[in-house]
Amino acid sequence: MAIDIEDLETPVPVVDMDRLERNLARTAAYAKQHELALRPHVKTHKSPFIAEQQIRSGARGLTCATPREIEVMSAASDDLLLAYPALGRSKLERLMHVARHARLTVALDSVEAVQQLGEAATAAGREVAVYVELDLGMHRVGVQSAADAIGVIRAIGRYASLRYGGITFYAGHIRDRVSDQHSKLDRLNRDVDAAVGELTKAGLTPPVVSGGSTPTIWQTHEIAHLTEMRPGTYVYNDRGTSEIGACTEDDCALTVLATVVSTAVPGQAVVDAGCKALGREPVRGVPGEGFGSVLGEPDVLVVSMSEEHGVLDLANTSWRPRVGERVRIVPNHVCIVVHLHEAIVGLRGDVVETSWPVAARGRSAATVA
Ligand SMILES: Cc1ncc(COP(=O)(O)O)c(C=O)c1O
Repeated sequence: MAIDIEDLETPVPVVDMDRLERNLARTAAYAKQHELALRPHVKTHKSPFIAEQQIRSGARGLTCATPREIEVMSAASDDLLLAYPALGRSKLERLMHVARHARLTVALDSVEAVQQLGEAATAAGREVAVYVELDLGMHRVGVQSAADAIGVIRAIGRYASLRYGGITFYAGHIRDRVSDQHSKLDRLNRDVDAAVGELTKAGLTPPVVSGGSTPTIWQTHEIAHLTEMRPGTYVYNDRGTSEIGACTEDDCALTVLATVVSTAVPGQAVVDAGCKALGREPVRGVPGEGFGSVLGEPDVLVVSMSEEHGVLDLANTSWRPRVGERVRIVPNHVCIVVHLHEAIVGLRGDVVETSWPVAARGRSAATVA
């Protein structure tokens, strides 16, 4: 018997399957058209169900941020990038376990991280590829110069168990409206070009140049020397992505279905999705208010939250929801929302088609086949 959206208990994250499939297909076609290897970041969906669709639609491999993501995603791909330095015996042992069956690449930016990885790979008898991370403007991680990159690459060369796989960067500082990204993208291009030039002069031409993000997704092919793109948010998109014009509201595949539980206080409606369902995420990049907007009513924002209450401000609308009515909230930052829930429901129109667990949430070890 078909289950209708009205039968779902709220709050619950629901995915419009048509939109999801369109987002996957559009990005796969873009990567193919521009001859870029697609290695999507799984942090957004944390689910082999989506990862398998990404691989089927042409992704070369997957990008992960945590050992648990690596473990869970080894069921979906045998080509995994940990885009995060791996430090500490326990994490390294978990990674080496996965590296029995999968090609593993680790991104790092220090000689210390090379030493720990090299020793763990040698002890486990595995070969691990290494991307050297460059800081090209985000100022989060990444070596500060080509000379520092060369130092890290030389350290990689001291371990027979490690292979220099290329360079990587994440331009997370570019979250401006798409029409205003030019000057930062120009600067990024100059910096990538200079880094690749200096590495080439030193005889260390990077085999792979890995980068790309959802805010700059349709400009990825303009980034100098890039061979691999790693967008994550594009599968579901969110209010942050649509506010800057990297997608439209119609491309936002994941919303949080919520029920209006109170309209007692004038000028507002309260839904059963608070910060434990939506996260307390600001709109990133551009000035913006609220913690999410109502699908189809973009002027209605979640303006404040308790743990289980979300307050919709009705000042800018003539829409007056009734108690018991359901709304779908487009979250500001979808990756955080996914991580707050155990499972996601897939809808075809208003009918429940499927559901899947957020299998890679959390940090504890997952069983590896
Ligand atoms: C290292 C790295 N690569 C790729 C991504 C892609 O993410 P997004 O699609 O949100 O730009 C991220 C996002 O945090 C990241 O940290």
